[in-house]
Amino acid sequence: MGAAIMRSVIPKLQHRVWQLSLSDRLHLAPLGPNTARTLDIGCGTGAWVLEFAAKYPHGHVTGIDLSAIQPTTTPPNVNFEISDMSATWSHPQKFDYIHSRTFAIGVNDWPKLVTNLWENLEPGGWVEFQEILSPFYCDDDTMPPALRLWNETFPVATAKVGLRLEAILGVPPLLEERGFVALGSATTKWPLGPWAKGEREKQIGAVFKSLDRDAQQWSSFRTDLELLMRSDVINALKGISMRLFTGVMGWTEDAVRQHIVEVENEIRAGGVHAYINVPVKLCRPSR
Ligand SMILES: C[S@@+](CC[C@H](N)C(=O)[O-])C[C@H]1O[C@@H](n2cnc3c(N)ncnc32)[C@H](O)[C@@H]1O
Repeated sequence: MGAAIMRSVIPKLQHRVWQLSLSDRLHLAPLGPNTARTLDIGCGTGAWVLEFAAKYPHGHVTGIDLSAIQPTTTPPNVNFEISDMSATWSHPQKFDYIHSRTFAIGVNDWPKLVTNLWENLEPGGWVEFQEILSPFYCDDDTMPPALRLWNETFPVATAKVGLRLEAILGVPPLLEERGFVALGSATTKWPLGPWAKGEREKQIGAVFKSLDRDAQQWSSFRTDLELLMRSDVINALKGISMRLFTGVMGWTEDAVRQHIVEVENEIRAGGVHAYINVPVKLCRPSR
């Protein structure tokens, strides 16, 4: 699969996994039907923004990202802006709801961002973080050796390029210090492969495991997801590892290729009870 297709497929895949994770809800904050002004920080391709705007047609939704990868034609109640959310915001009006999804690890100035949230949220408004905590967790002894090595190498490599995989864990104390009250927290899991017991976890696991044409596992996905399912975590690992492990860990390209083949074989062999933790955190200003 070409790099351009991968770039377009992976966000769709992730969006679908998020839909499954939250049982097709876009948010866990208890929003009223007349939520007027919503902001999505680090909106990526804008998939969440567009769905949210369709669900709340009487409100306006702004999506902001560093990269201009959003659609150029938008519904009237949507606008996209290119900006750094760690810089001072200059929005003329405050927001009722500020949402972010898989955004935390790239933020390099959380205290500044928390100040922005505080100053740009209406009293009674909600902030929601939908995050992933990687690398893989595993609660038993089924983590095989190549995946274990990948799991140990990835955090070291990401730290070297300034990414903090567990950044979201440090955010609630900053919010509370600033005057926010934590009002809810939920955690789900993205299993690596369809090993988990719950139907929803099985489906999410299936998205993450390349099952090629094993359509029986896929009764609820089909059509375009047949394309998505071939672009799975293994493909994501290939791209990320090649850049990171050669760039900052000194691995050769051949070593990375060989390693990913081993990881892929282990995952395909099944029985690996690994998962990514997926926390959702809700808060609102105390004022
Ligand atoms: C993993 S993507 C998630 C995209 C989207 N929220 C979703 O769930 O599909 C993270 C996004 O955050 C954006 N981002 C990271 N740091 C940012 C910053 N300081 N300001 C604005 N956007 C940022 C990146 O450009 C990227 O599009």
